[in-house]
Amino acid sequence: MEEKIKSLLEEIKGFSINNADEAEKFRLKYLSKKGIIASLFEEFKALSPEQRKSTGKLLNELKQATELKLDEAKEGISTQSKASTDSLLDLSLPADPLTIGTRHPISIVKKQMNDIFTRIGFVVSDGPEIEDDWHNFGALNFPADHPARDMQDTFFIESKGDEKWLLRTHTSSVQIRVMETQEPPIRIIAPGRVYRNETISARAHCQFHMVEGLYVDENVSFADLKQTLYYFVKEMFGENIEIRFRPSFFPFTEPSAEMDITCLVCGGEGCPVCKHSGWVEILGCGMVHPNVLENCKIDSTRYTGFAFGIGVERITMLKFRVNDLRLFFENDMRFLSQFKQAL
Ligand code: DAH
Repeated sequence: MEEKIKSLLEEIKGFSINNADEAEKFRLKYLSKKGIIASLFEEFKALSPEQRKSTGKLLNELKQATELKLDEAKEGISTQSKASTDSLLDLSLPADPLTIGTRHPISIVKKQMNDIFTRIGFVVSDGPEIEDDWHNFGALNFPADHPARDMQDTFFIESKGDEKWLLRTHTSSVQIRVMETQEPPIRIIAPGRVYRNETISARAHCQFHMVEGLYVDENVSFADLKQTLYYFVKEMFGENIEIRFRPSFFPFTEPSAEMDITCLVCGGEGCPVCKHSGWVEILGCGMVHPNVLENCKIDSTRYTGFAFGIGVERITMLKFRVNDLRLFFENDMRFLSQFKQAL
């Protein structure tokens, strides 16, 4: 039997394994359950105890050598196949293009607005998008039956109990949150997203962005308000822009006004964006109503204030001459990638 083992060892050494098929053949022939080595172990059981000693040693050596040969051969095959795919790599090919994202036009304009106002001492504040009735309406002097509370304008949120929750319809709610917690002088802007139950069209959307402004101190006047807004418009659009104020009404300001600027889409000649008037309304503003100050426990005999609310989409449309509001929310890369230079 020892002779058999020795000649088998030679045979195994000479077996050539060049690929996975040959490796499998080798394994089946020598190392599988029905292979030659397993049958030698069967024969081995029949040997006398003296014979077993030396033959057992040889047999074990044979098995180890066979396993080692198979392992080494397999390793050789896998490095070979890796080397053959490596040789298919063409390092001179141009690399995949690296596409860099762009900032959204609304974010670009919002940042510019923040920069303009913080340069003259306004501080950026924020508040929640889900609001209660008091901060969005009540404290802002909206009467209980005001039409803006109606389902047609406001998205109310289902709530248990008496408290009414809603998606804020304007960032004026942040005015209240700030005045409830801070003492004058207060000079803040509050940029953010607002929601209204409107039919989506080129000029209106159910979500948009507003920047609210508030300045409360002793002796704040309408002249301060006008000067601040002139400054904003000149910084945003340049020196040659025309401005007009129209009297208006908001429950939280008295007196109230709306401000228009020359339509930059048509240069004042008339187009669908300005409804052919040559003017575009960009904001509402006014002197903070004494009731609003008192609702926030601020002494309205000592302090006065102005407030304004600017539509960010409107400013962005004028700045980049975009004529359809819906483009801002569709996130089509062909549109968004046009604002690279504006970064
Ligand atoms: N909140 C108003 C709106 O939703 C905008 C506004 C008007 C804000 C006058 C103000 C203001 O602070 O004084 O259209």
